[in-house]
Amino acid sequence: MYKTKAYSAASATTPLAGATIARRDPTEHDVQMEILYCGVCHSDLHQTRNEWKNVMPTVYPCVPGHEIVGRVTKAGSAVTKFKPGDVAAVGCMVDSDRTCPECQAGLEQFCPNGTLTYNAPDKHLGGVTYGGYSSSIVVDERFVLKVPSNLDLAGTAPLLCAGITTYSPMRHWSVTKEKKVGVVGLGGLGHMAVKFAHALGAHVVVFTTSPGKKEDARRLGADEVVVSRNADEMQKHAGSFDFILDAVSAEHDINAYIELLRRDGNITMVGAPDKPLAVPVFGLIFKRRSFSGSPIGGIPETQEMLDFCGAHNITADVEVIPIQKINEAYERLVKADVKYRFSIDMASLEA
Ligand SMILES: NC(=O)c1ccc[n+]([C@@H]2O[C@H](COP(=O)([O-])OP(=O)(O)OC[C@H]3O[C@@H](n4cnc5c(N)ncnc54)[C@H](OP(=O)(O)O)[C@@H]3O)[C@@H](O)[C@H]2O)c1
Ligand SMILES: [Zn+2]
Ligand SMILES: [Zn+2]
Repeated sequence: MYKTKAYSAASATTPLAGATIARRDPTEHDVQMEILYCGVCHSDLHQTRNEWKNVMPTVYPCVPGHEIVGRVTKAGSAVTKFKPGDVAAVGCMVDSDRTCPECQAGLEQFCPNGTLTYNAPDKHLGGVTYGGYSSSIVVDERFVLKVPSNLDLAGTAPLLCAGITTYSPMRHWSVTKEKKVGVVGLGGLGHMAVKFAHALGAHVVVFTTSPGKKEDARRLGADEVVVSRNADEMQKHAGSFDFILDAVSAEHDINAYIELLRRDGNITMVGAPDKPLAVPVFGLIFKRRSFSGSPIGGIPETQEMLDFCGAHNITADVEVIPIQKINEAYERLVKADVKYRFSIDMASLEA
């Protein structure tokens, strides 16, 4: 065991503050990394404030962060993919049972015995896992990803959650050239969804509650932008979408989007508001539409996504912040005021 610096929340109502945490010494299959950047996901905020208490109650102290890019400082004797000095990345999962059918299919996100990067039982040290708002982390190499060498590292960190969470459902629901695709909510996930849908050749329409984001949406790859509070603008798109990805973090009217799907169209929720959404079933029945959800993505697909980003030169648009600004960043997330992901420069933790 060794000690490392971190930022943690002591309760649902206290701000994040500096702390010292323990990490295990790397075992033979482990990679130890110095964390360079960690993205700030809205899930970090939901979790530290215990907003998901009915589904995944928070254990305190909580060290969030699951969009991690770092440099390998040590590799165990059985590690084959990494050596000290390599750039490497870790996302939302750090382990799974590796034996269930989901793991064998490379879909570790569905493993009944998976270990999330933070707030999950820690098999090695007891207590819960601690995430990327820290200086150093130790992870089994199976859950460590390779980063294409052409990508900016601050902008790469958010790919590890916002990237894979939007890429995976788009691949699953076959987003391709001929398709009309909607993205709801232009935040961290939403702006990545726009980049991917555009790169996959779809006709992309962004739905936003923030008129001030219209220009940006076009620059990010949207063909059309709709301010969702404008009913006339919404009505123009009725019954026309093949696929809509909903990345909204708060309660909203889902039926407004179900009505925009064509026959057999699908709307997938990746946004995870704490309160249930009301789904009027007739909107689904009449056009055989479907409403589904999707969690992050498996390790093989996460690597595929990173390689896709390398090939298309895709990274997140980030505001790089020192860790000392994290509480301010959370307040701005609540106000939908981020362009379009905060990425923490972890060197600031040593300051
Ligand atoms: N399924 C998964 O595996 C997974 C993975 C990561 C995150 N998530 C969840 O996905 C959600 C989005 O995460 P994020 O990091 O992208 O958050 P974010 O950066 O805060 O973006 C959320 C966006 O939703 C829109 N929005 C916020 N409040 C709204 C409201 N009351 N009504 C309508 N629109 C609203 C805003 O976009 P506009 O300004 O454009 O309207 C905002 O920028 C969170 O709930 C997060 O926990 C899920
Ligand atoms: Zn996340
Ligand atoms: Zn499994």
